Amino acid sequence: MTTAAKQRVLIAGATGYLGGFVVREFKSRGYHVRALARSPHKLDPLKNEIDEIVTGEITDPDSIKDVCEGIDVVFSSVGITKQKTKLTFKDVDYQGNMNLLKAAKSAGVKKFIYVSVLNGPKLPHLAIVKAHEDFVDELKASGMDYAILRPTGYFSDMGEFFDMARKGRVYLFGSGDNSVNPIHGADLAVSCVDAVEGHQQEIDVGGPQVLTWREVAELAFDVQGKQVKITSVPVWLIKFAVKVTKLFNRHQGELLAFVSTMMTSNVVAPATGTRTLKEHYKALQI
Ligand SMILES: NC(=O)c1ccc[n+]([C@@H]2O[C@H](COP(=O)([O-])OP(=O)(O)OC[C@H]3O[C@@H](n4cnc5c(N)ncnc54)[C@H](OP(=O)(O)O)[C@@H]3O)[C@@H](O)[C@H]2O)c1
Repeated sequence: MTTAAKQRVLIAGATGYLGGFVVREFKSRGYHVRALARSPHKLDPLKNEIDEIVTGEITDPDSIKDVCEGIDVVFSSVGITKQKTKLTFKDVDYQGNMNLLKAAKSAGVKKFIYVSVLNGPKLPHLAIVKAHEDFVDELKASGMDYAILRPTGYFSDMGEFFDMARKGRVYLFGSGDNSVNPIHGADLAVSCVDAVEGHQQEIDVGGPQVLTWREVAELAFDVQGKQVKITSVPVWLIKFAVKVTKLFNRHQGELLAFVSTMMTSNVVAPATGTRTLKEHYKALQI
């Protein structure tokens, strides 16, 4: 590949939490940054970091068929997280990224960087993870050079504990005794851009500090100077809630199944980065 200074990257997902940090990281390393968005106004806060904006809807192949022209590297962190939508994980996380891969292949893109989920291959029963990993399988088979990042939980999601603590009580799924090393988007962005320049194709990545889920909750109270109040929701009750929610709203039920699986597992990956959750929570308090 050519040197970083001459490379052109297309970033899909730039309007999201991770994608915003990835835009900044690519730009700071001298890449020419093209961002794909369905709602370009959402990129206003990043306008000084972006060289070109292209408008397109990843689930509509015609709207993105030319977006990779002249591009060396595609990065995608497009996926349904909390968005309320009629589209499924398969529609967006799998098929949307497949549409982008097709456009990348026909434009002669050299490398595709994709963000899945830690332990993805072991969790095919979770719809969100299956959609990610089905795309990963297609990417591996595509013949294009690739790198797949499988991160732990993002600091953005750890904000949920901060919000619950602010309201006075944190609800943990299960005992909270399992561990996680969550990661700041800026630290993960460094690994994403390193992946372009390196040769490792599957990269598990977490943040610098391992905490139990209970410690994550306690930290959220501690930083706000509040008394710790934690309720553990028993696993049997969560399983029941997942089943019932799926009956009425399959998508929400699948999200609940994903979150509860994470919170009742060890979500620990090789550590990177420097930003701590305590600093993040302190920043949320301002
Ligand atoms: N959060 C975590 O802890 C975590 C952990 C491991 C892996 N991941 C994965 O990392 C990826 C990025 O996460 P994130 O927290 O940065 O997500 P995010 O903030 O919700 O951003 C998601 C991005 O995907 C785009 N998107 C979603 N639905 C779309 C649709 N129907 N059509 C077009 N674009 C759509 C969003 O665009 P709009 O702004 O237009 O909606 C946004 O740019 C996701 O695939 C997620 O599953 C997350």
